[in-house]
Amino acid sequence: MVGAGQLARMTAQAAVGLGIGFRVLAAAADESAAQVCAGTQTGDYRSLDDLLAFGGRCDVVTFDHEHVPEPHLRALEQDKRAMRARLAELGVACPRSDRAACLDDVTGFADGSGWPVVLKAVSGGYDGKGVWVCGGPEEAAEMLARLHGIDLMVEEHVAFERELAVLVARSPSGQAAVYPVVQTIQQDGICREVLAPAPGLAPATAAAAQRLGLALAAGVGVTGMLAVELFETPGGLLVNELAMRPHNSGHWTIEGARTSQFEQHLRAVLDLPLGSPAAAARHTVMVNILGGDDPRLHSRLAHVMAADPGVKVHLYGKQVRPGRKVGHVTAVGDDIGELRDRAARAASYLSSGTEQAQPQG
Ligand SMILES: Nc1ncnc2c1ncn2[C@@H]1O[C@H](COP(=O)(O)OP(=O)(O)O)[C@@H](O)[C@H]1O
Ligand SMILES: [Mg+2]
Repeated sequence: MVGAGQLARMTAQAAVGLGIGFRVLAAAADESAAQVCAGTQTGDYRSLDDLLAFGGRCDVVTFDHEHVPEPHLRALEQDKRAMRARLAELGVACPRSDRAACLDDVTGFADGSGWPVVLKAVSGGYDGKGVWVCGGPEEAAEMLARLHGIDLMVEEHVAFERELAVLVARSPSGQAAVYPVVQTIQQDGICREVLAPAPGLAPATAAAAQRLGLALAAGVGVTGMLAVELFETPGGLLVNELAMRPHNSGHWTIEGARTSQFEQHLRAVLDLPLGSPAAAARHTVMVNILGGDDPRLHSRLAHVMAADPGVKVHLYGKQVRPGRKVGHVTAVGDDIGELRDRAARAASYLSSGTEQAQPQG
C-alpha cells in the first residue's frame, strides 16, 4: 500500500488475519502504519523511482490516499474537476461546478447559482482543508487573493438535508459488494460521526444509493473499495465526491459488518471472492477522535475502557495535533440514541479529558 496513515494501518491488521504479506511505502518510519508493518519502505510517493522500487517488491499495489501524481498513475482520478467531469459523463447528478481561475469566474458562476458558493482546491484537499464557503463578491476577492497559486473550482452551496455515503467493493473480475448506506456528520468539513445504517432512510433512497454506488464502481472500473459521498436533498441524491480506497465512512465495518472494509479491500485487489457486507448489528455508531490540546491520549485510555467496556477504541499512533484525526471509537447495539451518546462521550474524553455527548441531530 502506498501511504502509511491509519487506513494502511487498519488494512495491515486485516492482512494479518488473512495471511497476506503486506508492506507500505511510508514517508517516514514513525508514520501510523510504518510503526506496525514489517517490510516498511520509506520513500516519497511523488517520486516515480521510489514508486517503481516499491512496486517491484509487490505483487499488487494499492493506495491509502489519492495524492500520488497523475502522470505516475494515469488510472487514478485524483483531480476533483476531472472527477466531476467523469461523473457528468456517466450521467450522475452532482452539485453544479465550474473552474475558478479568477474573480470573474466566481461572480459569473454565482450570478447563476446565487451566494454563497463553495471554493474547492482541485487536488490535495482532505478533511475540509481545501473547501471554503464564500458569502459574497468581497469575500470571494479576499479568498482568491489568499489562495493565490492554488488551482480552484467553484460550486453551488448545496442546502442538503444530510450527508450519506455508500461503500462498494469491486474486484478485477467484476464481482461487487455494496454496504448498507450510512449517514455521515461533518463539522467544519471534517467527519465527526457515522451512523450505520443511515437512520430513517427511505428504502427506495437506500436502494437508489446502492445502485448508484454499484454503477459507479463498474462505470469507473474500480478495483478495491470505492466510497461515494452523497448529499441527500429534496430533489434527490447528489454525488459530492468519490474516494477509491477504504474510507472514514467505513470504519464502522470493523465491528459493525460481517467483513470490514479493510479486509474487503484486500480481497478485492487480490481478486479473491468478496465477503458479506451485511450489518452485524442493528445499529453501529462511529465517532472520530480528534486531537485536543493535551496530547496524552494513552493516559486517558484506561478511564474510557473502565467507564464503558462495550465501546471499541482504535488509536492510530499518530502525533496528536488539535483537530487531527488520531483514532475512532465504535459502539454497536439496538438503541441508536444510547450508542451515539456512549461513542461521543468516549471520543470526547479521549480527545480532551471531558465527556461531552454530542448534540443528537
Ligand atoms: N457544494 C457543497 N455544498 C455544501 N457543503 C459542501 C459542499 N461541498 C463540500 N461541502 C461540505 O464540506 C465537506 C468536505 O468537502 P469535500 O468536497 O468532501 O472535501 P474533502 O476532500 O475535504 O472531503 C463535505 O462533506 C460537506 O460537509
Ligand atoms: Mg469529502
